[in-house]
Amino acid sequence: MSRKVLILNGPNLNLLGTREVEIYGRDSLSDIEKSCRSHAKGLGIEVDFRQTNSESELVTWIQDARGTAAAIIINAGAYSHTSIAILDALKALDVPVVEVHLSNIFQRESFRAESYVSRAAKGLIAGFGAQGYRLALDAISQLIGTGAKT
Ligand code: DQA
Repeated sequence: MSRKVLILNGPNLNLLGTREVEIYGRDSLSDIEKSCRSHAKGLGIEVDFRQTNSESELVTWIQDARGTAAAIIINAGAYSHTSIAILDALKALDVPVVEVHLSNIFQRESFRAESYVSRAAKGLIAGFGAQGYRLALDAISQLIGTGAKT
């Protein structure tokens, strides 16, 4: 079975390290990508790491993952709270989805407590900053190791 994991990042996550650092931390997205790659290597997982500010591009990437990725880790940023299109694309997948947020979305403004992505996700990791991505890789490694699905 393929152990390729698609890690998708949504809008404004390209600004990590300079954007609201008291909430999101000082790691840049490229720091997070590097740490994901090295952690994934130890787990025997191949990583395809991407970021876009475009909702339609995220939908297309999720569609393209059908039949090519063993799992998806997604931090859809603000689209988590608004995008039924991303939810529908995720629901069309038959591989596990793990949702990541750097911040604890439940401790913030009430509009962040609702996530459409969560409805399609096996689980959610929020509030651990950049470490959340590594925790998501650990979860995925277990899930694809046992052949579990969403
Ligand atoms: C975020 C939380 C979202 O509410 C916000 O819009 C983001 C980042 C996080 O990682 O904590 O852009 O997804």
